[in-house]
Amino acid sequence: MPQTDPFTYNTPKKMTDAELARALRLDAAAEIDAMNLYEAHIDATDNEDAKKVLAFIAKDEKEHYALFVELIRRLDPDQAEEMAAAGPKLDTILSSSSGKVPEEAVEAAAESDSAAGNVEERDLLRRSTVGSLLGQLQD
Ligand SMILES: [Fe+2]
Repeated sequence: MPQTDPFTYNTPKKMTDAELARALRLDAAAEIDAMNLYEAHIDATDNEDAKKVLAFIAKDEKEHYALFVELIRRLDPDQAEEMAAAGPKLDTILSSSSGKVPEEAVEAAAESDSAAGNVEERDLLRRSTVGSLLGQLQD
């Protein structure tokens, strides 16, 4: 049975954070590919046991993908900035009935959101745990 050589993907040196972020994007893409593959197989079978197992594993891949994305966000400040701006930009695009929104308006929405401190608030909420939120309530 052919197996992948475990040293195939070794790099000759330790990676910088920028290089690591690039490598993690490939890892995140592999998780997306796995999700799509498992979901396609769920759609392609009537075997209920297989559907359950594939759905269970596909959910794990979604968690893996989310963890890679979060790690990339922490390693790549430019990516973090784009991720923070994506929500307001998307809201602006979706608020248009035609979907045609000038690029300047989309960028302005993201800048306005950031200036209002919404980015920092969302970032704080994303990093919060139940324990930390309870601690804040007790303060
Ligand atoms: Fe995975």
